Amino acid sequence: MRILVITGAGVSAESGIPTFRGEDGYWRNLDPTKLATPEAFARDPNLVWDWYRVRRQRIGKAQPNPAHRAIASLALQADEFLLVTQNVDDLHLRTGLPAEKMVQIHGDIFMTRCSRCEFRRYEQEQDGGSLPKCPQCGALMRPGVVWFGEQLDLAKIDTVENFVTGGDCDLVIVAGTTALFGYIIDWALRARGQAGRLIEVNPEETSLSQFATKSFRELAGVALPRLVNELLRNISA
Ligand code: OAD
Repeated sequence: MRILVITGAGVSAESGIPTFRGEDGYWRNLDPTKLATPEAFARDPNLVWDWYRVRRQRIGKAQPNPAHRAIASLALQADEFLLVTQNVDDLHLRTGLPAEKMVQIHGDIFMTRCSRCEFRRYEQEQDGGSLPKCPQCGALMRPGVVWFGEQLDLAKIDTVENFVTGGDCDLVIVAGTTALFGYIIDWALRARGQAGRLIEVNPEETSLSQFATKSFRELAGVALPRLVNELLRNISA
């Protein structure tokens, strides 16, 4: 089995991490889709850093849920597997999913990088409330995530493209994402090729639903463990 899985914020929702566009996503009455922007950071870096610190703390205390674990066991059983996650949390990684089998296409919330030079550091711990400055060039440090309107990391695009063009997938699973970005839909559709199944897991209809072989209108933590169990039974039968 050659399998591509694409996940979004909905997969971490049952771990207590608010989604971007869900009702609980608002923070201090602010819309996350407006905070996660270069413009918001240029206007008020303290505010944006405060929001990311709160999210880091929340993620640090959260645990992977059955959806993350189901994806990890699928990864171990599939002949060829790639997870493309839009999530900047580390919950997929904490299930033991090998790092080389996943791409965090929107970056990693625990990475802090310089807004001017190449300096970056990984920091799980909070660094207090002040604005971090680059130890190499003195410029402002920023969260190592991709904001709206910014370029994706080219090396990460290459990893996904290599997988997508490396052969048709038997199965593509898209879970917990509104699939608003063109590249997400494009990768899902190209990866399935002519004959592959495209399965969507999302309580709500999305722009991808019309292309899905089947849409499960359920929570990821409910549907994915069941789906993966069925798949693994079929593989071993
Ligand atoms: P969104 O917040 O846009 O969407 C979350 C999706 O998950 C919605 O479609 C929900 O219906 C669904 N959902 C909610 N709870 C769920 C559950 N328990 N199980 C399954 N599905 C559930 O988040 P994303 O689609 O991930 O990018 O957003 C994509 C990107 O837009 C994010 O990575 C971020 C954001 O702005 C950047 O910051 C560049």
